Amino acid sequence: MHDFSFHENTLHAEKVSLRNLADEHGTPLFVYSANTIRDHYRRLDEALAPLDHEIAFAVKANSNIHILSLLGEQGASFDIVSGGELFRVVKAGGDPAKCTFAGVGKTREEIEYALELGIHAFNVESEAELQFINQVASEMGKIAPVSIRVNPNVDAKTHKYISTGKAENKFGIDFERIPEVYENAENLSNILLKGLQMHIGSQLTSHQPFLDAVTKVAPLAAELKQTHGIEFFSIGGGIGIVYDPALESGSEDWWDSFEPDQRPLTAAAYAEAIVPILKPLGLKILLEPGRFIVGNAGVMLTRCLYEKKGSAKTFKIVDAGMNDLIRPALYQGYHEIVPVQQSGPRSTIKTDVVGPVCETGDFFCQDRSLPDFQEGELLALMSAGAYGAVMGSTYNSRPLPAEILVDGAEAKVIRKRQTFEDLIAQEL
Ligand code: LLP
Repeated sequence: MHDFSFHENTLHAEKVSLRNLADEHGTPLFVYSANTIRDHYRRLDEALAPLDHEIAFAVKANSNIHILSLLGEQGASFDIVSGGELFRVVKAGGDPAKCTFAGVGKTREEIEYALELGIHAFNVESEAELQFINQVASEMGKIAPVSIRVNPNVDAKTHKYISTGKAENKFGIDFERIPEVYENAENLSNILLKGLQMHIGSQLTSHQPFLDAVTKVAPLAAELKQTHGIEFFSIGGGIGIVYDPALESGSEDWWDSFEPDQRPLTAAAYAEAIVPILKPLGLKILLEPGRFIVGNAGVMLTRCLYEKKGSAKTFKIVDAGMNDLIRPALYQGYHEIVPVQQSGPRSTIKTDVVGPVCETGDFFCQDRSLPDFQEGELLALMSAGAYGAVMGSTYNSRPLPAEILVDGAEAKVIRKRQTFEDLIAQEL
């Protein structure tokens, strides 16, 4: 499912050697494969062909303007959550009219900016927000197109920090209240009701929670089409990817070896589950995938600085830290760690791969059996294309890494590495 593979014992992104990229641009370094991004977009688009659908890329997963522009060229719309993301889409040549603006805490400035540019719709997350958008729109003499986010109270069976569709989560409005909220919205003169939206969580690895949510909410969407003339139903994002190589796609037998409800999720399996329920609605279906499109399309390169054999553990200390890729520290996220140079058979070692940041949580794996790589060796942390660079910080005054986009044999710097001067540039 991705274009990172070994040629002559060196890991490549498409036709470009990752070793050469690291030598030229330094580490840590994010490298993306354009072909993988296009391929994932196309797979999802094709799987959903039976529906009148639109794929709105969740910009939060990877907001580099070159990635956004690549997806815009494929025909993607954009799911944004801030004024900054809207700014990025516009800079990437994207059309504001293809942006839906989500998030529980939109500010006046952000609402004004979005109304000024003319976005597709706001995904409204509370009644207070609906009132406020109406007020701002009225002051500007504009009509605000909205969809309301329903919280379907369905268990997404994912990490608790990225589960969003339960009643105790801060997102959306309770399922039972939705008809009344639409009713009341009809009295708001500067609101135009255009759709219904939901999103139950991220990194879902089975189709079942999607099926549960769609089954529960589709009748509501049908009712709102009747009563309020809504045009679209956005079913959110959340399609999970395979992070663990033990689960990596192999033969048909491999796939069949899983119980049907345990099989890793594919675009086809996702579509097969939900299309029969959505098709009869006759509504436009919007999707907001982030990770599925870019997750496996990126790696983070890092170099091993030191090995430290303690009394309890062996640590491999690398030059990337939790500030560069926070997923392991924050969600116990798993990223496969691969030496970029294959050398003959090597022994394995049980080790913690850790960064230079002064936090005990600064690790990429703990007690994992890995090929015994050495000081100076280059490593790839796989599947770092989503929620990688975008969640980076300069904690410990570590400059943000560079980002490279590979397309075939071409490699383009799409973000320069920060300098020490960049670190303090705003502090004058
Ligand atoms: N739509 C909404 C309303 C969302 O909140 C999200 C993700 C998405 C779409 C896209 O979800 P995706 O298709 O990428 O799963 N930083 C975490 C993930 C946070 C997801 C936040 N919302 C991680 O690294 O796992």
